[in-house]
Amino acid sequence: MLNADLDSLRDYPFERLTLLLKGLTPRTNVAPISLSVGEPQHQPPDFVRAIIDGNAKTWNRYPPINGTPEFRKACADWLTRRYRLPAAMIDADTMVAPCAGSREGLYMAATVSVTRRDDGGPRPLAFIPNPLYQVYVGASLLAGAEPVFMPTTRETGFLPDLDALAPAQLDRAQIMYLCTPSNPQGAVADLAYLKKAIGLARKHDFMLVVDECYAEIYTGDVPPPGALEAAAALGGSLDNLLVFHTLSKRSSVPGLRSGFAAGAPRTIALLHRLRTYACAATPLATLEAATALWRDETHVAATRALYRQKFDIAERVLGGRFGYYRPGGGFYLWLDVGDGEAATRKLWADAGVRVLPGAYLTRPDPDGRNPNQGYIRIALVGEIEPTEEALTRIARTL
Ligand SMILES: Cc1ncc(COP(=O)(O)O)c(C=O)c1O
Repeated sequence: MLNADLDSLRDYPFERLTLLLKGLTPRTNVAPISLSVGEPQHQPPDFVRAIIDGNAKTWNRYPPINGTPEFRKACADWLTRRYRLPAAMIDADTMVAPCAGSREGLYMAATVSVTRRDDGGPRPLAFIPNPLYQVYVGASLLAGAEPVFMPTTRETGFLPDLDALAPAQLDRAQIMYLCTPSNPQGAVADLAYLKKAIGLARKHDFMLVVDECYAEIYTGDVPPPGALEAAAALGGSLDNLLVFHTLSKRSSVPGLRSGFAAGAPRTIALLHRLRTYACAATPLATLEAATALWRDETHVAATRALYRQKFDIAERVLGGRFGYYRPGGGFYLWLDVGDGEAATRKLWADAGVRVLPGAYLTRPDPDGRNPNQGYIRIALVGEIEPTEEALTRIARTL
């Protein structure tokens, strides 16, 4: 009577981490520091609190499922500014939809895109980068698609090799997820890559879902290009494309649960219909705070500067070891430590530092080998001092 498909989902990485560390206690003379979860700890701007407090009067109203016109306009304006899009390309009312964090939207994207086959024929395919964000897999499986994992290794520049995908499989695809800058490796897809991905989606008629949740956390001077920029270069249509953005990382408000999708009007209409049935509308207080955040760049520049400072520290402390490199975007270190699980246990027990084994973010290759087994992921999400302390302990312990 219960949905057996849910049993096919693996434990979420953090549940596996809890099991891995069960029974281990850090040495008593060190204060534990967690670098395992990608949960930004920087302070958001003060105006967020003022707006939430000022909205106490709105808690007795059901918010509209498609957000407020002001919110949608702020998102469309931000996209237009950020990606230098033609002024009329993104219609705020028909091409933008709020979601309760991009996670919810990324999940819904599979239901919007995949048509379940009940006739016994081959299941539609969902292309997913590997390492991956777990939600891509769960969403695809529960929508009735079969995941095909695209390796992203150092050799492929930590992005899927689009030229290596089999045309026959692409013909069966109904969805492909891409993440840029990627989690965990921080690889940034360039415009040519994104144009090629959109071209494949149109040629083989699947939905390309681009997760750009780290788009605003970058280490160089040039912001990472986005899929909408690529769509603009291809003529401006958003057919076969859904792009997700979030405030969680950009504005350090993972607790606010606010992101949005941008896509073609028909896609956004279906997403809207699905959300009407399945999702909680974003509260009006959140929408107003989110509107102000998308309109402000000052706090984002300050946030980026903090991450850069932490990458400078990481480079000084870990540079030249464990295959250290400074990623183009995101806020993770992806280190090859030989045996990711063993290193994670050692770091917790001996140094009180909690990191995540790379294997928990990945699936083995078809031959059973997992090229990410040797890695750990370190999230540079804390304040400067504890982050430096944790990195120093890591360098000393491994
Ligand atoms: C790759 C990736 N996508 C999406 C999300 C979801 O973020 P949120 O739901 O907070 O917008 C995360 C969060 O860690 C992530 O790492």
